[in-house]
Amino acid sequence: MPDIVPPAGLARALQWVRHHLLWLHQRLLPAPMAMMELIVSGWPAQAITAAAQLGIADALADGPLPLDELAARVDADPDALSRLLRALIGRGIFRRRRDGRYALNSLAATLRSDAPISLKGAALFQGSAEQRERWTLLADSVRSGESIVPALRGKDGFDYLADLPEHADLFNQTMTSLAQMTLAVVVGSYDFGTHRTIVDVGGGQGAMLAAILAKAPASQGILYDLPTVVAGAPRMLQQKNVAGRVRIIEGSFFDMVPPGGDAYVLKNVIHDWPDAKALQILRNVRAAAGPGATVLLVEMVVGDNGRDGPQNWVDLEMLLNLGARERTADEYRNLLSAAGFRMTRIVPTASPLNVIEAVG
Ligand SMILES: C[S@@+](CC[C@H](N)C(=O)[O-])C[C@H]1O[C@@H](n2cnc3c(N)ncnc32)[C@H](O)[C@@H]1O
Repeated sequence: MPDIVPPAGLARALQWVRHHLLWLHQRLLPAPMAMMELIVSGWPAQAITAAAQLGIADALADGPLPLDELAARVDADPDALSRLLRALIGRGIFRRRRDGRYALNSLAATLRSDAPISLKGAALFQGSAEQRERWTLLADSVRSGESIVPALRGKDGFDYLADLPEHADLFNQTMTSLAQMTLAVVVGSYDFGTHRTIVDVGGGQGAMLAAILAKAPASQGILYDLPTVVAGAPRMLQQKNVAGRVRIIEGSFFDMVPPGGDAYVLKNVIHDWPDAKALQILRNVRAAAGPGATVLLVEMVVGDNGRDGPQNWVDLEMLLNLGARERTADEYRNLLSAAGFRMTRIVPTASPLNVIEAVG
């Protein structure tokens, strides 16, 4: 995790620059050509997945290799491998040295299994047949406004994932990488230490709570999630040296939420649910929280500025997989208000996540 947290304003300025560069990038071609580029933009993504499946970055971890040796290590046809690498190198992934040997560069190194923030699992997950199939059915979801998973698999998104342990493992690796990229930034952008007891609702195995408590030495934590999930929490909390300050409670937030918190944190939880279910969770938080307690939703917020951003695409992923959604600031305000909370502010961070603060 980075020690220095960049200010949210700097990140916003860089996004502004990237938005205009993207605009320029597209306008430098006639519309049909620019559109064709977008239509085939799934190809580079799948080529990255192929590199992850072949284990090219791991094979280059100890240093550059000539084509034949690399091909032998990853069990590939040398000519086909050189064509894959040529395409990826054109997109800034891997490099070919003057002596002809292939080597890692910074983007390619993220595909190493042992990278500090490894994206190998994410590449394997996003490019899997399972995941791609869902996206081929996006039009169905847009017609119905519902997830395609129940019609496709006969089960809801999370239940279905539990039936596919290997795919679920890749999903969890993807979530871990995303958390590694954002946790320090979120925790560095909001002063959680003003709250004595912090309840992390749907807190997984406690990565966020551990990061919060590491920066808030006087605070105590309660980790709340489903029994199968919190089973793995004690080890992780011990590793982070906060186990002595965390009480683990298992249960479903649709039944109840533990009382006694000064602050209730829900990170990437509300976006998993359609409005009626999200409201049920927040009402249970309201029932548990004493007067004046704070609720902190850590979520992306959708804007109407016409700009590209992960929130727009994750929103479609939520629709496809769970019939859920990313929300605008007004949608969060209304949802919180219906549950009995008053939204006080949205604290942006240098990551796509914001801390949406409300009081009871
Ligand atoms: C997208 S994950 C977010 C996890 C964690 N807050 C984070 O940001 O890394 C959603 C979490 O909600 C939990 N969850 C799903 N249904 C739940 C339920 N009925 N009761 C409690 N937790 C639940 C999941 O187990 C998972 O840990």
